[in-house]
Parts: sequence; C-alpha cells; structure tokens
Amino acid sequence: MTASASTPRNAEPLRVGLVGAGLIARQHLLALARSPHFTPVGVASRTVVTAQALAGEFGLPVAAGSPAELVEKARPQALMVLVSPQAMAPVALQCMDLGLPLFLEKPVGLCVAEAEDAARAARETRTPNMVGFNRRYYSVFAKGLDKIHQRGRLLAVHIEGSERMAVARGTGRFAEDVLRAWLFANATHTIDLLRHFGGEPEVVHALCASLHEPLGDQFAACLRFPGGVLGSYVANWHSPGGWGVVLKGEGVSVEFRPLETGRATYADGSVEVIEPDACEAGLKAGFAGQLAAFAQLARTGVLAAPAQNLEGALLTMRLAERLAQGALPLG
Ligand SMILES: NC(=O)c1ccc[n+]([C@@H]2O[C@H](COP(=O)([O-])OP(=O)(O)OC[C@H]3O[C@@H](n4cnc5c(N)ncnc54)[C@H](OP(=O)(O)O)[C@@H]3O)[C@@H](O)[C@H]2O)c1
Repeated sequence: MTASASTPRNAEPLRVGLVGAGLIARQHLLALARSPHFTPVGVASRTVVTAQALAGEFGLPVAAGSPAELVEKARPQALMVLVSPQAMAPVALQCMDLGLPLFLEKPVGLCVAEAEDAARAARETRTPNMVGFNRRYYSVFAKGLDKIHQRGRLLAVHIEGSERMAVARGTGRFAEDVLRAWLFANATHTIDLLRHFGGEPEVVHALCASLHEPLGDQFAACLRFPGGVLGSYVANWHSPGGWGVVLKGEGVSVEFRPLETGRATYADGSVEVIEPDACEAGLKAGFAGQLAAFAQLARTGVLAAPAQNLEGALLTMRLAERLAQGALPLG
C-alpha cells in the first residue's frame, strides 16, 4: 500500500508548521505548495526576521521565534523540524513536548549517543516521528528495483558514497562540529541506502582510513544482507567521484549515477533509461513521496515502508559508526 493510497479521498489537508527557515525549509515549502496532504500555516526560526521573510515569501500567516510560539499562534496538526544539523537533536527534543507528529530532517544528532537520546525521548513521549531520508523515495530507485525483481532476485548492492569534503568546507556554511561529524551529518544519506536496498546487514567487514577528517574519509567495506545478498560500500571524500548506486539482478544491472538518473543494462547488451516520475519535476527528488508518507503517519499513526523513524535512523547512524570503526591515519 502506498502512503497516498491510504489517505482518505477528500480528506482535509493537515495544517503543518515548519521549524527552521533555511535552504531546506524553502525546498519543503515548494513541495508543500503542490501537496494535497498539507497546508503550511507558519514557520518558526531562531532569528524571527528569517522566519518572517520566508513566511512573507510563501504567504504563510504566522512567523514565530520558537516552536512553542508557532504552535500557539498557528495551531498546526504536525510539525516539520528543519534546523541546522547541530541544532536538530536539541530542537527535536524540545518539539516532542508539543504533542504533535514530527517530521525531522536528518541528521537527528551528530553522534550515535545523541541519536539514541532522541529515539529514547520519542519512545517515552510516544511522539509519532519520521526522519527525512528522502532518497528512499526516489521514483527511479523504485522503478530500478522493479526491473530487478521482474527478472528474479536482487543479488548485490554496491554503493559509492564519496562526499565532496573540500566543497563542504569551502562553502563556509557549516559549523566546524558539523564538518567534523560529516560522517553522520551527510554521509548517512548513502549509508542509509545500504539498509534501504539490502535490509539490515548481517555481516560487515569494514576498513577505514583518514587523510584529513577525524572520523575517517576513505572507506571500503563488504557486507552481507538477509537472503545472502552481498554488498559493498566505498567512499573517498577527497577524490572526484560523488554518489552512485549499482544493483545487480539476474540478467540485469541497474545503475544510478548521479542518483537521480537510472539506467538498466540487460544480458543481451541492451540499455534502458529509467525516467523519474513527471510529478517530481521542479521539486527536490523524493520530497513529494516523503510528504505523502508523513501525512499518513500524522493521520493514522502508521509509518509505512520505506520511511524511517528515529529507531531506523539510529540503525543507519550505528552502521555509519561501524563503517568508520578503527579509522587509521594515512601514512
Ligand atoms: N534531505 C536533504 O537532502 C537535505 C539537504 C540539505 C539539508 N538537509 C538538512 O536540513 C537541515 C537544514 O539545512 P539547511 O540547509 O536548510 O540549513 P540552513 O540554510 O543553515 O538553515 C538552518 C535554519 O535553522 C535555523 N535554526 C538553527 N538553529 C536553530 C534553533 N536552535 N532553533 C530554531 N531554528 C534554528 C536557522 O535559524 P536562523 O537563520 O533563523 O538563525 C535557519 O533558519 C539540516 O539538518 C540538514 O542536514 C537535508
């Protein structure tokens, strides 16, 4: 069952409030503007003028200086927490006291301990929650997996997760503690895809080295997933390469590089381009499907696959930690 299929026809859109008014809040507002599931009713940010500027641009009735003020003035039925990576875990904890379903951008925490605290707090406060691993909702991924399953089993999952570390450092947009924790702050996007495609790894053999970054920046790992599916993860953060996924099936290989584009190659040498859904055009990929899943969670309390809550995000954080274990300085 898809998330949208479970939303009752003619259901009133849910009133949603945004916490955080930066670049990703803007992307979510563009997706919300096209979503039948939500009406954005206000935005809160640390600096109220930032919230006012974004609210003015998108015609939102309320701009607030805190999540509590947003809830009091805009009466949302759900909240999206979209603040800077170093503020995600503390602001998420703050929002759990407001009694609303939460969509949380990744990373909820810059280390495993912070992610554990957030997951525990959500459990204790019984807060329905979803973490924004939007790549799980790429239409090209779903179509590529279909092509594998039409011909048999998924045999292997190979992921390249090379971060562009020099670019990240060069922008000046990220605090040093976020850059030092980049493994959790950003590399978890591709590490999460190992779990998305393969399931929970049963065996991980990981090697890691560090040219510059304290938690490692050179990764090579072999994994085994349920059903004997094999996988690999490689990442070299100071070399050109970027992100890529290759899925191996019976007589078919599917490749996504960059991740937003797909192509299937068959045993006879023929190649088929995999196009994204037309409804994704103009939006950040995966955001529409992600919103539909969050609406279903907010309406019914059910978090449908492939969505991840804080417990799932914690498994991804732990896998990231495992891949980086024992990082050795490059000689
Ligand atoms: N899923 C994806 O593909 C994707 C892509 C990019 C980013 N992200 C995630 O989205 C989040 C936001 O990224 P961004 O690029 O939008 O960052 P950004 O442009 O720096 O904006 C961050 C926003 O958070 C607000 N903020 C910071 N601390 C706060 C606090 N304690 N309370 C309330 N508001 C606070 C800032 O407030 P003021 O400016 O008002 O002071 C700003 O409006 C990050 O966690 C990032 O990892 C996800």
